[in-house]
Amino acid sequence: MAFTLSPESEKFVEDLLIRFPTKQAACIPLLHLCQRQQGWVSPEAVEFVARRLEMTTSQVQGVVTFYTMFHTQPLAPNVIWVCRTLSCELRGARFIQKHLEKRLGCKLGGTSKDGKFTLLGAECLAACGNAPMIQLNDRYYENLTIERLDRIIDEVAAKTKVAAASEKAG
Ligand code: FES
Repeated sequence: MAFTLSPESEKFVEDLLIRFPTKQAACIPLLHLCQRQQGWVSPEAVEFVARRLEMTTSQVQGVVTFYTMFHTQPLAPNVIWVCRTLSCELRGARFIQKHLEKRLGCKLGGTSKDGKFTLLGAECLAACGNAPMIQLNDRYYENLTIERLDRIIDEVAAKTKVAAASEKAG
């Protein structure tokens, strides 16, 4: 099925295109918009962006696959990025990762058993002074301890509703 943006997002794109010198320059913000609406960048969304910005699908796909912030497959409603670079590693990132893997029941790259979280690894997220840290959706959580991490996961899990398999199929 062809990808379309909501009317509000369409209005946002109109305003966006006025601000850029070329249509192609709006590729990244438009991909963010598609991902926010759909949860990932589907092949249909790539075609939509290519058509809208007068690019080829390979050019758009090249942008999508270059940046780790774009997801090329559906993920859980909450995405956790665990920073594993030096400052975080020296301050316990390995324990943060292991704890999350155990608690969520999945390895890096996987999705939790309840379908609420996808766990990913990240290189330095530029919050080294407050290591160890994770990014959960659009927010940074820094100076983490296992106890604090558990509280964060509890809070976010409680707010997340996941459709039952039967609802998804229907
Ligand atoms: Fe983790 Fe820089 S090393 S934020």
